[in-house]
Amino acid sequence: MKANDQQILTIFGASGDLTYRKLVPAVYDLYMQNLLPECFAVLGVSRTKFTDEAFREKMANGIREFAKQPTEDEAKIASFLTMLYYEPIDTKSVEDYGRLKERLESIDSACQTGGNYIFYLSTPPSLYTIIPKNLAAHGLNEQSDCWRRLIIEKPFGYDLKSAQELNASLLEDYQEEQIYRIDHYLGKETVQNLLVTRFANLIYEPLWNRNYIERVEITSAESVGVGDRAGYYDDSGAMRDMIQNHLLQLVGMVAMEPPTVIESTAIRNEILKVFQALRPLSKEDIRNNVIRGQYVAAKVRGEQMNGYREENGVKEGSRTPTYVSMKFFIDNWRWGGVPFYIRTGKRLPTRVTEIVIHFKGAPHRLFPDPTGFEFPNRLIIRIQPDEGILLKFGMKVPGMGFKVERVNMDFHYSELSDAYLPSAYERLLLDSMLGDSTLFARGDAVEAAWEFIDPIIEAWDTDDSLPVFGYPAGTWGPEHADDLIEGEGTMWRYPCKNLADDGIYCEL
Ligand code: BG6
Repeated sequence: MKANDQQILTIFGASGDLTYRKLVPAVYDLYMQNLLPECFAVLGVSRTKFTDEAFREKMANGIREFAKQPTEDEAKIASFLTMLYYEPIDTKSVEDYGRLKERLESIDSACQTGGNYIFYLSTPPSLYTIIPKNLAAHGLNEQSDCWRRLIIEKPFGYDLKSAQELNASLLEDYQEEQIYRIDHYLGKETVQNLLVTRFANLIYEPLWNRNYIERVEITSAESVGVGDRAGYYDDSGAMRDMIQNHLLQLVGMVAMEPPTVIESTAIRNEILKVFQALRPLSKEDIRNNVIRGQYVAAKVRGEQMNGYREENGVKEGSRTPTYVSMKFFIDNWRWGGVPFYIRTGKRLPTRVTEIVIHFKGAPHRLFPDPTGFEFPNRLIIRIQPDEGILLKFGMKVPGMGFKVERVNMDFHYSELSDAYLPSAYERLLLDSMLGDSTLFARGDAVEAAWEFIDPIIEAWDTDDSLPVFGYPAGTWGPEHADDLIEGEGTMWRYPCKNLADDGIYCEL
C-alpha cells in the first residue's frame, strides 16, 4: 500500500491545531512504516511567519506528543523533519501564490516530485473557495504530466445551498476526481471493517434487512464539552457538526447495498443511493422524531461542569444543540419499515461510538422466561474506543429446565497481538496519496445529506415552539429522547466502559 508517486503535500493552515495534533503526526506515522514515496515533502503554509526551522521544531513537538509510532529515536525524527518546509503567505492574496508556486518548484527540483501536489485545506471554511481559485489562477490545478489534488475538511457547506455553491465553485477549476472531502469517520478502522463484516461473511448479509432487523441504533457520544471551539461550534451545533456528516456516513455504510467491487465509484454510488432514499421529514416528523438538547451545569463524578451557555465564546441565550437524537426511515426494498435511531451529544457520560443492529425476536416462543423478558439478538459494532464486535444471544442456563440468559460473544481488536490500528488521518492521507477516494465523501452525497437535514435546521430556525431541552452534563441527554424509541421492552442502549463508571445507565 506504499504511495509510489513522488509528491508534495502542501498544508494550508499549517500553524493550526489540526496540523500539529493530527496531520503531521500522521505523516510521520506513515514515514515510520515506510509507506511514504521515496521523494516526498510537506510544505506548510499559513500567514504566521515561521522559518523552515521553526516549523520543524514545532512539528517535532506535535510528533512526540501525538504520533502513534515510536518516537524514541531522535535520528529518525530528525531525518523526517528534513522533509518539512514552510512558506508564509496571505492565502487571500492571489499574488502570493506566485511565490508559493516558485517554492513548490524549488522543492520539486531538489527532490524530484514531478509536480504531483496535494493541497490540504486545514483552514476556516470561508477559504474553501478562495484558496482553490488562487491555486488555479497560477495553474496549480492543472494535470498535464502530473496530478493535482485538493483535500477539504468538513464542514462542506453550511446548508444545501452553500454546499451546492461550494461544489459548483470547486468544479469550475477541478474535476470531481481531484477533490477529496475528508470525513474522518470513514478513516476509522472499525468503520471500514463494517464493509468486511457485511460483505466478507455470509452469515450476516442474509439477515441484514427488514425481515430480520427490527431497528438500527447508532450512537456517537462524547464526554467532553465544547472546549475552546465555541467560535465555530455555536454556529454549527450537533446537527451540522456530527449528524449531517459522520453519523449519516455511518448510516450509509450500514444500509448500503453490496457494491460490485471495493472501489471508489461503486461504493460511493451505493452510499449516495441510501441518502437519496432517506424519507424526508415532515414538519410533524421534525416535531415528534427529532430531539435537540443542550447541556446544563451539573456535577459529573464529583467535578462541577459548566453548562453550554456558560462556556467561553457561546452567545448569550444560545439555542445551539449540543445533543441531537432522531428517528427516520430509509424508503427502499431492504429497509422498508425499519426505524433508524441515531444520536450524538457532548457532555454525555462516556465517549463511545457504536452501531447496534437489533434483530427481531424469534417467531415462536419456545422458552417462556418467568420475567417475560425476550432475548432478541443484537450485533454491536463498537467503532471506538475498545474497537470490536459484540454479538448478544440467548443461552441455556446450565441446570434443570430451560432458563435462557443473554450472553456475549465479544471480539476486541486489542486482543489481536499484532494489531496496529492506524489513525483515521493516517489512513486517509495515505489513500489520498495513492489517489484512492473510496473513503472520502463525494459531492453529490454531501448534497443529498444536506437535502435531508436542511428542513430540520430550517424548522428549528423558524419555529420557536420547537424546544431545546436542557440535560445535565454527564447524563445521556434529554429524557424526551427515550420517547423516540421506548416501546415495549425497547430503549436506547446505554453503553459504558464499566458498570461502576456510569451507574444504572449502563450496559456492557
Ligand atoms: C469532529 C467534530 O468532526 O468530530 C467534533 O467537529 C467532534 O466536534 C469530533 O468532537 C469527534 O470525533 P471523534 O473521532 O473523537 O469521534
